[in-house]
Amino acid sequence: MIGAAHPGVEVSITGLGTYVPDRVVTNDELAQHVDTSDEWIVARTGIHERRMASDEQALSDLALPASLAALADAGLGGGDIDLLIVATVTPDMAFPSTAAILADRLGAADAAAYDLAAGCTGFMYAIAQAYGMVAAGLAHRALVVGGDVLSKILDWSDRSTLVLFGDGAGAVVLERVSEQGFLGFELGADGAGGRSLWLPGSGSRAFDKQEKYVIMNGREVFRFATRVLVQSAEELMEQCGITIDDVDVYVPHQANVRIIDHATKKLGVPSERVVVNVDRYGNTSSGSIPLALADARAEGRLRPGRLVLMTGMGAGLTWGSALIRWTKETPMKETP
Ligand code: ACO
Repeated sequence: MIGAAHPGVEVSITGLGTYVPDRVVTNDELAQHVDTSDEWIVARTGIHERRMASDEQALSDLALPASLAALADAGLGGGDIDLLIVATVTPDMAFPSTAAILADRLGAADAAAYDLAAGCTGFMYAIAQAYGMVAAGLAHRALVVGGDVLSKILDWSDRSTLVLFGDGAGAVVLERVSEQGFLGFELGADGAGGRSLWLPGSGSRAFDKQEKYVIMNGREVFRFATRVLVQSAEELMEQCGITIDDVDVYVPHQANVRIIDHATKKLGVPSERVVVNVDRYGNTSSGSIPLALADARAEGRLRPGRLVLMTGMGAGLTWGSALIRWTKETPMKETP
């Protein structure tokens, strides 16, 4: 699906916060568990290190500090939120939803709260949903969290997946604003490719099976990713009547630096406009785009008026893009 923003109704991101666990896991540490090397991982993925949650930390423990930072950034408290969406494939548990758990911890007593699963694209789907509800007047202030603790569902004997992923979460607040915010969204899914990246033992199809870990066909996902990152962004830009030259900041899903380089080249984005932090965090799934947004802001790249293009892709297989004219001032002091 594709659509430009409702004319005359402006919705934007008014708060942004992130959280990553303290523990840094280097490529050398992973090489003690599987047959790999720092050289291979850096050359094939661009990843140098990633963060990993402790045994006690579940998704809501990462989402809470990210959400508090986003709310503080927007000048709001938990009680001001009336919609809370958590995009994840690693909720604390199947139910209650992590969003409901988080709403309770934030004091968002009256908020509608639910989880959304769209693989690594979850954050893009969730901001599109929140946009729709805020633009329609159904919600006034939405908190959208994207986060995953993929380290919990990785097979520590599978070198082809273990080296790619990391843990982290980001949160944004969406509200009506007076100047231009979101320009439009493009979202899609191709279920036929679902088995290229899946977790077969995670639901009612196979609760009794032992397949509790991510299974991936890396080459298939690579081909898919390089295609949809370009296609989704180009379709959305055409829909919104803008060209790549208008885009000031490009925030692609942080899966692999080679995938990002391919998309950047095909789209024709100058490298200085691209946000890359996969080297420090790996692929944090639904946390990837908000973590990259926060890094861009910390570097002073998200200034009011700048046009930001975000594109995610992931399990499903799914993809999604959004265009936003950044409205939020860069704070003098970064939120943690
Ligand atoms: N260390 C050393 N060797 C490895 C490793 C490793 N960690 N992983 C794989 N290899 C080996 C393979 O076994 C293979 O060996 P073989 O030739 O003897 O069979 C060789 O390296 C080459 O494997 P390829 O798959 O061709 O390597 P490629 O250059 O394609 O890189 C990678 C693999 C990094 C997984 C790449 O395909 C990729 O990034 N794919 C996309 C994955 C992705 O982004 N997934 C997340 C999607 S988002 C979401 O929703 C979670």
